[in-house]
Amino acid sequence: MISKKMEKALNEQIALEGTASFIYLAMAAWCDSEGLEGCTQFMHRQSTEEREHMLRLFEYLSEVDGVAITPAIKQPQRTYKSVQEMFKKVYEHEKKVTASINKLIALASKEGDQTTFNFLQWYVSEQREEENLMRSILDKIKLIGEGPHSLYYIDKEILAVNAAELAAEGENN
Ligand code: FEO
Repeated sequence: MISKKMEKALNEQIALEGTASFIYLAMAAWCDSEGLEGCTQFMHRQSTEEREHMLRLFEYLSEVDGVAITPAIKQPQRTYKSVQEMFKKVYEHEKKVTASINKLIALASKEGDQTTFNFLQWYVSEQREEENLMRSILDKIKLIGEGPHSLYYIDKEILAVNAAELAAEGENN
């Protein structure tokens, strides 16, 4: 049995993960409209991942006799000034998610809720990986710079990053 306070906090996390999924889906649409195939694929995969993060929380609430709430999600931003601006937003959102997970863990600890504390550890590792991934992409974009064909090379790099992520997912399944 989960406390009402924890149930509410986990539902807020569901909303945050669902929002991330929709933000990344809207980013995929923008990348597609810009002809950025690698970035489109990357954002679609990220969006699916975030939906899975949301569903994991849904299932957990059901297991511990809580009630999961399907979030109302605002229309995400539809266009970006640049790929760099877009990835900066992704990185900022991931940092927000990490901070939120840390708060949930603090609450679980305060309540002596070992089950939720234990469940949330998966998200700690996931957030470390996500933040690291976004930082490395921003570093690559910076290294490529703003030359005449930079967008082409950035997109190629992101395509390669996406392929590596897919391969890693395959290994872990
Ligand atoms: Fe599930 Fe990337 O936050």
